[in-house]
Amino acid sequence: MTLDTTPALLDGGQAEEDAAVRRPAAPGESSRASRQWWDRNADDYQEEHGAFLGDDRFTWCPEGLDEEEARLLGPAGSLTGLDVLEIGAGAAQCSRWLAAQGARPVALDLSYRQLQHARRIDLGRQSAPVPLVQADAAVLPFADRAFDLACSAYGAVPFSADTAALMREVHRVLRPGGRWVFSTTHPIRWAFPDEPGEEGLTATGSYFDRTPYVEQDEHGRASYVEHHRTLGDRIRELVAAGFTLLDLVEPEWPAELTAEWGGWSPLRGRHLPGTAIFVARRD
Ligand SMILES: C[S@@+](CC[C@H](N)C(=O)[O-])C[C@H]1O[C@@H](n2cnc3c(N)ncnc32)[C@H](O)[C@@H]1O
Repeated sequence: MTLDTTPALLDGGQAEEDAAVRRPAAPGESSRASRQWWDRNADDYQEEHGAFLGDDRFTWCPEGLDEEEARLLGPAGSLTGLDVLEIGAGAAQCSRWLAAQGARPVALDLSYRQLQHARRIDLGRQSAPVPLVQADAAVLPFADRAFDLACSAYGAVPFSADTAALMREVHRVLRPGGRWVFSTTHPIRWAFPDEPGEEGLTATGSYFDRTPYVEQDEHGRASYVEHHRTLGDRIRELVAAGFTLLDLVEPEWPAELTAEWGGWSPLRGRHLPGTAIFVARRD
């Protein structure tokens, strides 16, 4: 990433010639850029982060918060028999943990290459493979009220232009009372350079600037996009879609965790939240 006032979940995937800018990015352009970026970078992502994620763990964030301890989806034992939709599932690590809890997960992702990694992991295991669906989270290919629970660990939310519509889609496919729990970049990070060191501790941008972060080629075509919402924006989108917010979790950096993940580091973790996890219930 070259623009020092904007966060990006991942860097290293940007082609040398691509420029980082702040500019509008419509849903179609954002979706196309994300699909292509993740198809190109899935191998590197799984190579770099696969061991941290674990093949069958449910890790919410670079802070390492694990659903085995956090139980944001519901108490131990309560997932048995539930139909669960994992959005932006990548290699479906979280879905494998859900299946081990007795749930019936479906792992959805925009990127075919990410889903191939899910298949690769499943082929090396005895357990039943996770059902996979390639689709954009903004247009979920499921019937109304098809799921008891929906979750996403840094899945589609940071990359989608119209997260208000995404929230409505998740609401549509959930049964009444179902939870929707998702983690995403903590909005405050958008005011700081996406750097793990000291330079990442001084605010240089505006938290209130919702202009998307875009990496684009020499023709102005987006190759990578992230979208920003303030905390208030996210809560308003959830409430407008028909959810009740039950909790907003800001995982703290564990003293023993030394691993960096892009701009997430022990140094910044001591000063700033890096992740926000929204726990909501469909009314
Ligand atoms: C940071 S990765 C997280 C993957 C996985 N949850 C994990 O924790 O490793 C983001 C994932 O979201 C997917 N994604 C991005 N935009 C999406 C969209 N609009 N709909 C569905 N998936 C999307 C990407 O393909 C990618 O696999």
